[in-house]
Amino acid sequence: MSSAIEIGSPIDDPRGFRRALGHFATGVTIVTAQCDGQLAGMTANSFSSVSLDPPLILWSIGKSSQSLSLFEKADCFAINVLASDQMELASRFARSGVDKFVGVQWHPGVGGAPCLPGASATFECTKHAVIDAGDHFVWLGKVERYSRAQREPLLFSHGRFGLAVDYPVLGGEAENGAVQAGSGTDHTTMLGLLWDAFTCLSHGFEPEREALGLSVSQGRVLSLIERYPGARLETIARKGYVSPQGAEEAVRSLIAAGYATPGPDGCWGVTAKGRDNVALRRQRAAAFEASRLKAFSAAELEATCKVLKALGAG
Ligand SMILES: Cc1cc2nc3c(=O)[nH]c(=O)nc-3n(C[C@H](O)[C@H](O)[C@H](O)COP(=O)(O)O)c2cc1C
Repeated sequence: MSSAIEIGSPIDDPRGFRRALGHFATGVTIVTAQCDGQLAGMTANSFSSVSLDPPLILWSIGKSSQSLSLFEKADCFAINVLASDQMELASRFARSGVDKFVGVQWHPGVGGAPCLPGASATFECTKHAVIDAGDHFVWLGKVERYSRAQREPLLFSHGRFGLAVDYPVLGGEAENGAVQAGSGTDHTTMLGLLWDAFTCLSHGFEPEREALGLSVSQGRVLSLIERYPGARLETIARKGYVSPQGAEEAVRSLIAAGYATPGPDGCWGVTAKGRDNVALRRQRAAAFEASRLKAFSAAELEATCKVLKALGAG
């Protein structure tokens, strides 16, 4: 039996198609160019390596992008692969109609294309080919220079930003080579134990989350609208680790389903149905946690919290 939760044709349901595409986790880049002293930059996760010899990479740009004409004029561009602490930069360069470079540090790379300090890797390219592809153009670049830093990457999937966590092979491998994490391995390291506990709790709560009928992004956005009345979309996106487009889509679907309502000044309010959902989700999360912790004494829980708080404080 198929475990698909959605099946459809991209033509009939473009939003469903986008949701399915969102299952492919990617890194996040800011692609930049400079021409006649003007700068262009946009957040893009369509980046991919293509060829080692010659060294080619690609990314695609939407035909409605305001940056398109500058990318067309420029002979060079730079791909800045973002690091885990650059989510705000990713959100800023995902917006149209603003001067994205105000207050942003950069230095000119090949052809003057802005290279952003703090990126995890940079590929400075000359334009190799441009391919017309539906509502996008695919840009192929020949890499003239690369650089990389010892920095963790920023990730993106399901419209949300994320961080890379190594799959912990800390407990060793089973005889057949399968990784044993999450399967009751007798991990001897704190990291392995934390990983097992986190994945078990998170997976355990999934059915409860699904029963309440909202996706993770929708749930986060609804809670934030409720907690920060009058907050703007950028604030909701930042606090929920959701892309601006993801937050916008979540708000739209929450309004359509009667959980949220448009308010004054382009902000939103939560309806009674929305407030009930938030309260129920908090209640269920608290009950779920309490049920998993009931076997432990108050002293054990206090000691565990103390250790976790100290570790989390760095
Ligand atoms: C994580 C993420 C990845 C994105 N990837 C792409 C992409 O690969 N191609 C694209 O055209 N737009 C992409 N976008 C949307 C653009 O960043 C956004 O439309 C663009 O910056 C708008 O600015 P502009 O109109 O000034 O060009 C992405 C947005 C986000 C948040």
